[in-house]
Amino acid sequence: MKPVTLTSNFVVYQEDELSAEDREIIAHARKASESSYAPYSAFHVGAALRLSDGTIVAGSNQENASYGITQCAERNALHHAACYYQTQAPTALAIAAETGGQFLDQPIPPCGACRQAILETEHRYGQKIRILLYGAKGTWVCEGIENLLPLQFVGDCLL
Ligand code: THU
Repeated sequence: MKPVTLTSNFVVYQEDELSAEDREIIAHARKASESSYAPYSAFHVGAALRLSDGTIVAGSNQENASYGITQCAERNALHHAACYYQTQAPTALAIAAETGGQFLDQPIPPCGACRQAILETEHRYGQKIRILLYGAKGTWVCEGIENLLPLQFVGDCLL
């Protein structure tokens, strides 16, 4: 028997401790939450991706009366980037969630399906993505999806 410990590393920043670049992408994620279509959950999520050429691409959650086909903000942003900026690697992703007219104090992490999609994007471009989870009382930041998804199912597992 051999215990295995997996660790995740985050840094929590207050607003005034963030770099201008990080503040900018968070502002885009917050703004994107305004385009959320969430008549069922009233939970408005915005995501913003920074690409290697500096372009920022946003996404928001889009719900459906057939709940299961709802698309999360993160995957909408990732797929938008993949369609329109195929050659630009995503380097950072910010996520912000608002409900009842207020951004949540504590950040929300991406759901499991979005973690898997972020992982695929990192592998596709061979580059880690800086992930910023915005909360009104602090933004949690990590370098790479391994901090949210430590045991990874990737294409190599299929070989
Ligand atoms: N949602 C996201 O957009 N991203 C996440 O990471 C978690 C959940 C959306 C899906 C649904 O529209 C609403 O939040 C409530 O689950």
